[in-house]
Amino acid sequence: MTHNEISSLADINRTSPIGIFDSGIGGLTVLKEIWHTLPGESTIYFGDNGRQPYGSKSHDTIVKYSTEIMRFLESKHVKMIVIACNSASSHAYETLCRISKVPVVEVITPGARQAAKRTRNGKIGIIATRATVTSGVYNSAVVQAAKNLINDESPNSEVLRSLEVREVACPLFASLAEEGWWDTPVTRMVAETYLQTLIESGTDTLVLGCTHYPLLRDVISGVMGENTLLIDSGSSVAEKVRDVLDKNHLMNDGSTLPTYQFYTSDDPHMFENMATPFLGGGRPSGTCYVSTDSFREE
Ligand code: DGL
Repeated sequence: MTHNEISSLADINRTSPIGIFDSGIGGLTVLKEIWHTLPGESTIYFGDNGRQPYGSKSHDTIVKYSTEIMRFLESKHVKMIVIACNSASSHAYETLCRISKVPVVEVITPGARQAAKRTRNGKIGIIATRATVTSGVYNSAVVQAAKNLINDESPNSEVLRSLEVREVACPLFASLAEEGWWDTPVTRMVAETYLQTLIESGTDTLVLGCTHYPLLRDVISGVMGENTLLIDSGSSVAEKVRDVLDKNHLMNDGSTLPTYQFYTSDDPHMFENMATPFLGGGRPSGTCYVSTDSFREE
């Protein structure tokens, strides 16, 4: 079967793997949470390292790349697709939902909901790539989540009536995370510059709106101060994945042991070398190279 052929739904069952993709290695922070929450599930991860970063790409390019990856994962008979990249989630989710044969999960809404639920003063900050910020998707998701909570008369309804959402693009953060500069003076200086307006405006809840940012958590938290709550959506995304599998009767019944496969559109050794901290320790092995040229040819 070629990458562009859509797997028949007959090929999919409870033991099929979950497909997860990101522009590179950031999505491994989400994969780690999925493994933790759903230890019986097999996974196939695709990192588009050869074409990253997505955070500086246009809407059309991100949609095109994400669609190609979705087709590739479908050719591997995945039972679900997790867009473990905020930039791809904010630009390509609607398209993938429309054309995918299997359920699709994005990473924006779970973090937005958490932020609306947990803010104490209604001042929510979002830090993300430029592509994510310019999409405006986080802002809409937080506003919608706040409306739902107000309708449900949640305990923080009053503060949510005066909701203020501020989004700041932090394009250097992803490179600093990949460079391993998680807590260096340079990283602190960059964080102080990016986060200044959020501190001045009294942000009490800050969403880490890029899958690379959990690695910079200590610096970001140190700069924002202890009164700011940081939201890393990885665990809420994993909960969402569990709910969707459950609703679709696709949860692994435990009849097979889980398997973990990795694909990258760049050098597999480089991918594996960089992956360890993003996975919180373990190093992937047997990563396969996939040329993105093959997405176009087939
Ligand atoms: N992982 C991407 C995200 O969550 C950021 C990295 C990139 O720009 O490709 O938005």
